[in-house]
Amino acid sequence: MEEIEIIKPDDWHVHFRDNEILKAVVPETTRHFARSIVMPNLVPPILNAKQAIEYKKRIEKAIPTTDNFEPLMTIYLTEETNKKKLKQAFKDEAVFAVKLYPAGATTNSDSGVKDIQKVMPVLEMMTEIGMPLLIHGEVTDKEIDIFDREKVFIDDKLNFICKELPDLKITLEHITTTEATQYVKEGNKNLAASITPHHLALNRNALFVGGIRPHNYCLPILKREMHRKALVEAATSGNPKFFLGTDTAPHLTKDKESACGCAGVFNATYCLSILAQLFDNENSLNNLENFISRNGAKHYNLKTNNETVLMIKSNETSIFREFLHIGNQKIKIFKPDFPVFWTISK
Ligand code: NCD
Ligand code: ZN
Repeated sequence: MEEIEIIKPDDWHVHFRDNEILKAVVPETTRHFARSIVMPNLVPPILNAKQAIEYKKRIEKAIPTTDNFEPLMTIYLTEETNKKKLKQAFKDEAVFAVKLYPAGATTNSDSGVKDIQKVMPVLEMMTEIGMPLLIHGEVTDKEIDIFDREKVFIDDKLNFICKELPDLKITLEHITTTEATQYVKEGNKNLAASITPHHLALNRNALFVGGIRPHNYCLPILKREMHRKALVEAATSGNPKFFLGTDTAPHLTKDKESACGCAGVFNATYCLSILAQLFDNENSLNNLENFISRNGAKHYNLKTNNETVLMIKSNETSIFREFLHIGNQKIKIFKPDFPVFWTISK
């Protein structure tokens, strides 16, 4: 048996949804994480401080009393976002960050931004007050191949924002390509990126193993093996610009296994065990704590957590539960195609 004790991790990108799904998925995150940035893409989206505060209360109600957890709330940026009110919401600590979804890029993003120029005054104000911008980095043009949408976003949109506002604190979320790792490494000091467990574990072949695999469908879509390798290199390198954002995104199996299945992978339950195994397989366990517990906090100017967690490697592979049950519905829990020997205890 092998054990490592590390600073309690944070998840810098989660989808908790609402109502019954929220109640079921919140404990899957709060069990092991101290803090999470909560995505605002509800239907309708979280557009202002009042909605964020109410949503935070619903989340807090779902946290088991045994867990110490802080949800950090976000607002969904639209071309109508009010600059003054947003500034106040940040000063009041009701809202931690702003999320930019290009309109139509992903699940529930219809009211997202069509024209970056229109939100530049808001981004300028955010730069002044030090409010982080979280970006879903994909263009939405139908003519652009789905596998190229991240790269084109970087070239056409992100590069513009970074040049105009070099001091804006930006997280390019759930990156999936060599180009993204490169751009972030060489980019502004305030530019960092989050990486998901599933993009570290899978390449695009996983979408089509013996047939179509809707549970591996997420956005940005899985890419070629060379890109997965670049992500693994970035995550395991210890480089402070890369940190964990699981993008755990629950959808009922009936909505995934459909003629038009939803994008999103629900990975909260076993993500830390999977990451420990991934880092172990790369002989990089020494950098696991940087990736899951230190780098994100540093990027967001927060303290690292005081508590620690114990990770234990057993001689037997873990048996993962396949589903999270919600009444008579269920959500598929992500598991990789390699054996996992690591478990987490408190
Ligand atoms: C997310 C969701 O389901 O809300 N889906 C996904 O594939 N990642 C939205 C998102 O983060 O893109
Ligand atoms: Zn997401």
